[in-house]
Amino acid sequence: MAESMAGLKRTHRCAELTTANIGETVTVMGWVQKQRNKGGIIFVDLRDRSGILQLIFEETDCGKEAFEKAEKLRSEFVIAVEGNVEARSGAVNENLATGAIEVRAKSLRILSESETPPFPIEENSKTKEELRLKYRYLDLRRPDIQRNMMVRSRVTTLTRAFLAEEGFLEIETPTLIKSTPEGARDYLVPSRVHPGSFYALPQSPQLFKQLLMCSGYDRYFQIARCYRDEDLRADRQPEFTQIDMELSFVDVDDVLDVNERLLKKLFKEICDYDLQLPLQRMTWKEAMERFGSDKPDLRFGMELHNVSDVVKHTEFAVFKGALENGGSVRGINAEGQGHMPRKKIDALVEFAKGYGAKGLAYLAVQEDGSYKSSFAKFMTEEELKALVEAMEGKPGDLLLFAADKDKVVFDVLGALRLEIAKQLDLLKKDDFRFLWVTEFPLLEYSEEEDRYVAMHHPFTMPMEEDLALIDTDPGAVRAKAYDIVLNGTEMGGGSVRIHQGDIQSKMFEVLGFTKEKAQEQFGFLLDAFKYGVPPHAGLAYGLDRMVMLMVGADSIRDVIAFPKVKDASCLMTEAPSPVDEKQLEELGIGIVADQD
Ligand code: AMO
Ligand code: AMP
Repeated sequence: MAESMAGLKRTHRCAELTTANIGETVTVMGWVQKQRNKGGIIFVDLRDRSGILQLIFEETDCGKEAFEKAEKLRSEFVIAVEGNVEARSGAVNENLATGAIEVRAKSLRILSESETPPFPIEENSKTKEELRLKYRYLDLRRPDIQRNMMVRSRVTTLTRAFLAEEGFLEIETPTLIKSTPEGARDYLVPSRVHPGSFYALPQSPQLFKQLLMCSGYDRYFQIARCYRDEDLRADRQPEFTQIDMELSFVDVDDVLDVNERLLKKLFKEICDYDLQLPLQRMTWKEAMERFGSDKPDLRFGMELHNVSDVVKHTEFAVFKGALENGGSVRGINAEGQGHMPRKKIDALVEFAKGYGAKGLAYLAVQEDGSYKSSFAKFMTEEELKALVEAMEGKPGDLLLFAADKDKVVFDVLGALRLEIAKQLDLLKKDDFRFLWVTEFPLLEYSEEEDRYVAMHHPFTMPMEEDLALIDTDPGAVRAKAYDIVLNGTEMGGGSVRIHQGDIQSKMFEVLGFTKEKAQEQFGFLLDAFKYGVPPHAGLAYGLDRMVMLMVGADSIRDVIAFPKVKDASCLMTEAPSPVDEKQLEELGIGIVADQD
């Protein structure tokens, strides 16, 4: 039977009580974590979002009726208890914030009963994620997830306060917008008023924040929901949240400076971690050459070595072939891993193939200086010696080589480096290594579309010194774009924008847009730029990723209240779902039956 809380007022959350409250009469409310009946005495662990508090029921204090009710309590019942705070009668529980006290109940109301939950509400749940997500409202009761959600809330609160202090205005931008084909796939929303026409959900507030700069708002920010229809991974959701900002009359350094101070504040307050400013910076080119990645994890070494020159005269077909095709031969040194059994090395070769490698050549330097290798027999002693030396190989080391086009070599060794670090447990979650990656290429060639596409977006400013290359060698033009990388995750990114009409037109031309097409899709922005536009730049963080890294979660699903799973569905509400025929009719939409 559910009782009302009429006449009762909660005085404290469970874990707000301490030994300082001993002697006080309090009223607490929450969920029963556990009830233990020891005969004439009943212990109840009461839980709310602050933590757990021990209640103690004895008939002499609470009366017969309340005691009988207490006998019936089961996990997840919601109760209200009035009682006295006392020093703990039994052993002090060091694991609990409230471990030195208990509340001796004087009265009990059962506000709501509970069926047996499908899984226990506990920290570090062993329950499969699918089941937890189906009952997400229960999963969200677990203390570790509650802590994550509280950190997330603190991050947005601190961010708002910091940015307001720095002169940023919080302004909302629309979420029913015009579809633009650049970037990821859009989520579309059909219009009833304009049958056959669609809105798109924003992939980011990019164009609107640039327009706000045109309108003179000078410094804008927004905690913005974004939507991208792309393949999901542990750090990608179809809808996610950005801390999004844009600034006028600034260049790269101004944006990085204010953001470094924001990060310093957030990581100090939330993780008690002291960031040393300025943060390290590295050009995209250096990041690729040294780490095979545009988001290098700096928590460990194992950097790439380019050995193309060292092996340029070799007869080993794999290396020779790659070099003849304009590729390179590079390697990493897994120090001290020379003893790795063949089976494990074979698994690494398979792993490399998953990243497009045709194979992975290896050489283990034995303690006696001899080699165990998949290719030593194809090379001379001198060549091998020079190769090992170039790799800084010592007895006991394992050298791994990829030979292919640069892109494949970087992909393979970048991923391999991380995989080996994972296997060797080198990735400490409380070690925060920040890095700005700068000077990204402006464009990348899309084999699929047979044209250049913008690496960031079409509004990113080329570096002034590379402007001349835009017609002759577009692939070599660098952009005023930057990413903030933390422990191998791209946490945020941004750029200085093009504010000159002629450069923007040129950019559209390189991207293969006709004047008409550019006008059709981005006319409102191009028109706005005719009426006085300030130089501007901005950046957006993935809030979910930031919080994930702060709390050491493995997936952004753990820091999003109601996340979606790999196939972009919600296991709890079962969205997406078919809709009524009538709804479709109103929208003028007919479903073409799936042929397969
Ligand atoms: P970008 O596309 O790099 O830049 O996005 C900014 C940051 O958003 C996060 N992010 C995601 N997080 C979760 N799930 C996703 N699917 C997802 N996609 C991106 C990443 C990323 O670094 N308008 C520009 C920013 C700018 O130029 O100011 C933009 O959206 O952490
Ligand atoms: P093979 O002569 O094809 O048996 O290859 C000899 C060794 O080179 C094997 O260890 C292969 O895994 C490795 N190998 C093959 N292709 C490549 C490549 N593209 N890069 C690096 N190693 C490779």
